Amino acid sequence: TPITSPDISKCSTGTNLNTKQPLDVNCCPPMSTEIIDYQMPPVTKMRFRPAAHLAGKEYYAKYEKAIALMKALPADDPRNFMQQANVHCAYCNLTYEQAGDPKLKLQIHNCWHFYPWHRWYLYFYERILGKLIDDPTFGLPYWNWDNPDGMMLPEPFVKTDSSLYNVRRNQTHLPPALADLAYTQRKPTKPDKIVANNKSIMYNEMVRNAKKLEDFYGAKYILGTATDPGPGSVERGSHMAIHSWVGEATPSGEDMGNFYSVGRDPIFYSHHANVDRLWTIWRGLQGPKPKDFTDPDWLNADFLFYDENAQLVRVKVSDTLENEKMGFVYQDVDLPWLKNRP
Ligand code: C2O
Repeated sequence: TPITSPDISKCSTGTNLNTKQPLDVNCCPPMSTEIIDYQMPPVTKMRFRPAAHLAGKEYYAKYEKAIALMKALPADDPRNFMQQANVHCAYCNLTYEQAGDPKLKLQIHNCWHFYPWHRWYLYFYERILGKLIDDPTFGLPYWNWDNPDGMMLPEPFVKTDSSLYNVRRNQTHLPPALADLAYTQRKPTKPDKIVANNKSIMYNEMVRNAKKLEDFYGAKYILGTATDPGPGSVERGSHMAIHSWVGEATPSGEDMGNFYSVGRDPIFYSHHANVDRLWTIWRGLQGPKPKDFTDPDWLNADFLFYDENAQLVRVKVSDTLENEKMGFVYQDVDLPWLKNRP
């Protein structure tokens, strides 16, 4: 039996996963009595997701405006910026019971739902922003940290007067520092080794150590499975490294280094757009090999999100498999790590 949508009326104060203490914030979503099975709207216009370091002034003017409008929505509107950040906290920080097994908690990380769940999260986030600026083609920028040209925090996110700015970041990792995809607080990589090291990490996560579906996606997680059965290669590696590299250098690591607060930093959505893009790229690299699980326990899992009209909707993993069917495409860039077999 697959994981199914939580009963949001039973949402409780979760756990700070870094400190193991109860959270001191409430990240439960607003209640809604009506849940609709989501029908993907027909794609009439594609949303273009640009690389963050290549997107121009005009693009950022729109994006900054959209985020400012999102922050200005009423605090209890599920589309409000903080409410959107709380979606991540609620699905990660053990606030929900697992539907059908109240002894267990729901956690969508470290398992095979990591990619599909985050794809839906970004999908609605992007549609909310597009609606706020009345632009059905608006697409999120991705932080192209797998490419040497994109390894710094993208400049618009570090301008203090921007709606994309966030103060709770490690101040020694602002530009021109290059993101370290092997970063752990105990052992950063030597600066002159970062680019080469990052490239081999990407090759390993995307090719060498990602030959089987579970190696890439993460371990099976169904009704009755305890949390954290095991992450896939990118989730465990570069994805986590970026989280801790951006967050404050403290044990609790806000905002990007702690799951309850990650969504409060606008860079989160560009970080995850890149993770999502890597999913698309990995599928493209498989050739005739299977790209997705055929297990109904994966395909039929469902989650709840508020859509751009503040309607609570139920969405399925099986609808996430082709990003073009969901109406977005990624800007094509070079993949230096692919030709760079370490
Ligand atoms: Cu939901 Cu990068 O974590």
